[in-house]
Amino acid sequence: MNETQLRERLAEHGRLLFGRGYSVGSAGNISVRLPDGYLMTPTNSCLGRLDPDRISKLDPQWRHVSGDKPSKEVFMHRAVLETRPEAGAVVHLHSTHATAIACLASPGEAAPIPPLTPYFVMRVGRVLPVVRYYRPGDAAMEPAIAEAARQARAMLLANHGPVVSGKTLDDAVYAAEELEEAAKLALLLQGREARRLTPAEVEDLLTTFG
Ligand code: 13P
Repeated sequence: MNETQLRERLAEHGRLLFGRGYSVGSAGNISVRLPDGYLMTPTNSCLGRLDPDRISKLDPQWRHVSGDKPSKEVFMHRAVLETRPEAGAVVHLHSTHATAIACLASPGEAAPIPPLTPYFVMRVGRVLPVVRYYRPGDAAMEPAIAEAARQARAMLLANHGPVVSGKTLDDAVYAAEELEEAAKLALLLQGREARRLTPAEVEDLLTTFG
């Protein structure tokens, strides 16, 4: 996809995510890697009403070059995209169920959501680190995000929400959606005996689907 198509796709994904309540108000931000820099949703923008022409553009050194002022979470996106060269996009949401798990006092360091369904394992993976609380936009979070990104495609920020990367924008959005659904299932099943995928079944998914 060229830049114009990616801008339109980003606005379309934003509209769909917002429409289903995966972000509310002006919460959430999305970045996409380009051959000559990055696209990023503008700060204080509503994901449901993004104007493709006003999406922020940053150069390869993450300097703002055009469009509206970028998200204050530029450090978060930079940490993931620089740590994971294969990642083409990052989606940060405040989706309710993933955020609820991120608010638990003891969410579980590396696996706060159990492997209940194949698509969670295939899209998000085996490990989901929880990064300690930082104020939104705090540049001090960058090393902690980079450390989590070294271990996994996605992470939860304590008391804040999920950060998910993917090879492409579509992949990152689909993984963020799977993460939210898996979090919802985990909460729905709390207190009931659920069958988790076995380590061998998880291994089989990861080797079959990469
Ligand atoms: P921005 O509006 O600056 O992107 O911040 C929204 C957000 O989700 C903070 O985490």
